Amino acid sequence: MPKSAVKRFGILTSGGDCPGLNAAIRGVAKAASGVFGMEIVGISNGYRGLIEGDGRELYSEDFSGILTRGGTILGSSREKPFKPDDDLLKDSDVGKDKPGLIKENFEKLRLDALVVLGGNGTNTTAHLLSREGLNVIGLPKTIDNDIWGTDVTFGFHSAVDIATESIDRLHSTAHSHNRVMVIELMGHKAGWLALYAGIAGGGDVILIPEIPYDAGAVARDIEKRRSEGKGFSIVVVAEGALSKEEAALPKKERKRLREKMPYPSIGYRVAAEIQSATGMETRVTVLGYLQRGGTPSPYDRVLATTFGTAAAELLARGRFGRMVAMKDACVSSVPLSEVAEKTKTIPLDHHMIDTARLVGTCFGDEA
Ligand code: F6P
Repeated sequence: MPKSAVKRFGILTSGGDCPGLNAAIRGVAKAASGVFGMEIVGISNGYRGLIEGDGRELYSEDFSGILTRGGTILGSSREKPFKPDDDLLKDSDVGKDKPGLIKENFEKLRLDALVVLGGNGTNTTAHLLSREGLNVIGLPKTIDNDIWGTDVTFGFHSAVDIATESIDRLHSTAHSHNRVMVIELMGHKAGWLALYAGIAGGGDVILIPEIPYDAGAVARDIEKRRSEGKGFSIVVVAEGALSKEEAALPKKERKRLREKMPYPSIGYRVAAEIQSATGMETRVTVLGYLQRGGTPSPYDRVLATTFGTAAAELLARGRFGRMVAMKDACVSSVPLSEVAEKTKTIPLDHHMIDTARLVGTCFGDEA
């Protein structure tokens, strides 16, 4: 058995769940225990479990048969240890800082290192813990695909598959009723999911946070389609999409304006704008958490397993303070310091935006 820098490590999943988390856990665990002889401690519910010292040894029966299972066997939370809010602490711990509790529990659980599976916030916390002297390795997980430093995150392709299958189903009912169907997808800060599922599903309009939209341009595109005999349209909207008018406002004012609007989310507002401008019947589908549920796609099973085993190798080689990444189809790793506090949004000259425009997709701007 190869000699390893790490004898015993903790593993946690943090932030929004996604298909592929269990496949990644399995990849880390099988390589770490089977090849490098390491002991594994599963931490419950993300960083909250580390603050509370809630960990238990994982054995092969714990990570056998989970490759295809959705969600995470460890549970998750959106706990941010470096953001002060003492409501989660036991009375005896109030006043102690959460990073201090994490370091204490690192000792109590006899951890040499920690592997975290999560999105932007999780890997930012991983960097801060690494700066505090803990041995931490990150894996990039999110359906949003908005983590800096990696071309792709696991969970993204499964969400694209789910969203695309839904768009396909909307096509038939839109066509049957000559309606405009608006489908709202997840993706607050970046529109990767809406862009890829929009292209895969043949969306006629794709609205993403990176390109603030003009409601008039959207209406004109839909009316042009109608004049060409296409009495239906599919509009794919990222939940973080915003109008040109909103984009011009300071963030706080934009938030206040949104709270006053009679729409539960952007998809409903876009639909109302379209119906009012074109007179066409418009309906809304918000896909929501369906994009995060269920079994991972085969692509994500392979990607998550690859990332997981790569993390085990980083542990064995003692290469801490890094996040596993995919760059130009090669698995590598990047310093957590480069990932922290960043979001990977879509560059406006990205080839997939060009591809969509070339097949006539409208982005709500006058391209
Ligand atoms: O970060 C992934 C994500 O699914 C976003 O796309 C979405 O806006 C958010 O999580 C929802 O967060 P929560 O699960 O806390 O409601």
